[in-house]
Amino acid sequence: MTTKQLGSTAQAMVADGKGILAADESTPTITKRFDKIGIEPTEDNRRAYRETLFTTPGLGEFISGAILFDETIRQEASDGTPLRDALKRQGIMPGIKVDTGAKPLAGAPEETVTEGLDGLRGRVAEYGELGARFAKWRAVIRIGAGIPSATCIGANAHALARYARLCQEGGLVPIVEPEVLMDGAHDIDRCEEVTTATLHAVFDALSDHGVMLEGMLLKPNMVISGTDCPGQAGVGEVAERTVRCLRRTVPAAVPGVVFLSGGQSDTTATEHLNAMNAGTHPWKLSFSYGRALQDLALKRWNGAADNTESAQQALFFRAKFNSAACKGAYTGDMEQELRAA
Ligand code: 13P
Repeated sequence: MTTKQLGSTAQAMVADGKGILAADESTPTITKRFDKIGIEPTEDNRRAYRETLFTTPGLGEFISGAILFDETIRQEASDGTPLRDALKRQGIMPGIKVDTGAKPLAGAPEETVTEGLDGLRGRVAEYGELGARFAKWRAVIRIGAGIPSATCIGANAHALARYARLCQEGGLVPIVEPEVLMDGAHDIDRCEEVTTATLHAVFDALSDHGVMLEGMLLKPNMVISGTDCPGQAGVGEVAERTVRCLRRTVPAAVPGVVFLSGGQSDTTATEHLNAMNAGTHPWKLSFSYGRALQDLALKRWNGAADNTESAQQALFFRAKFNSAACKGAYTGDMEQELRAA
């Protein structure tokens, strides 16, 4: 894989009006989502749910890539087609989550460091043979009294950089995801301060490790008020602060920034992205949402094959609305289309 090929894959992932579907929930995470609505967390239900998402008619118009969990990249649709090939048929590139989760940081039990570097070179090679074109690694930074520590930010930045370089060496485009959580009562100032410090540390580490910025994507949180903060910042302020933070920290050589939704409601995540795309930026600003694309689709599917079409319409329209938001062309009126579907 040449440098040029990595760059063109990264650019294709953020082609005009396209974003990424994050469907790489680990088994414990998807179990939590299933439990909430009473779906049995069996392997076959996970397979059937992901098949429902990936075979949504027309999804490839708005979605360039889908991030899968290890189990999913090896599963087959009900007609025997590997799910990764069902995606490719729609023009959607398969990607893979390669971290093995956020674990307590030694000496700092309230903080985590993401693991998964051991044996990663071999796993990247195997996933490439299975057809993956890109990978994801999520670092988690929690805001609280006296945290995050510089140690936590530094350890996570270092791991992200080692992961990113290994992926590029093995021909996969790394999605670098340092997520500052929105949980907590902190205000938007504090979120901006921590996100800025985190992104500075991440790009320092990426530079130290020789990661090629043209062949990666950044997947950050938006700069937003903590969930329990009494005064919630509005859409305009979130957009303005997020763009300011990115302009201060993210080199223009990075082709795209694909946001996580992090627990925002699906419509709020779309509105924020849309507001940011009212202006022009050195990088594409797009989405790599999990919950904000899937929440309604999962609720409508509810474990029953009979609900396939209704679930697929929910995903299709949310993808369409976020695609419009990538161009600053989303309006609240568009939600009518989904309500009518
Ligand atoms: P959310 O959009 O639900 O935050 O998920 C995105 C993701 O991939 C988290 O790692």
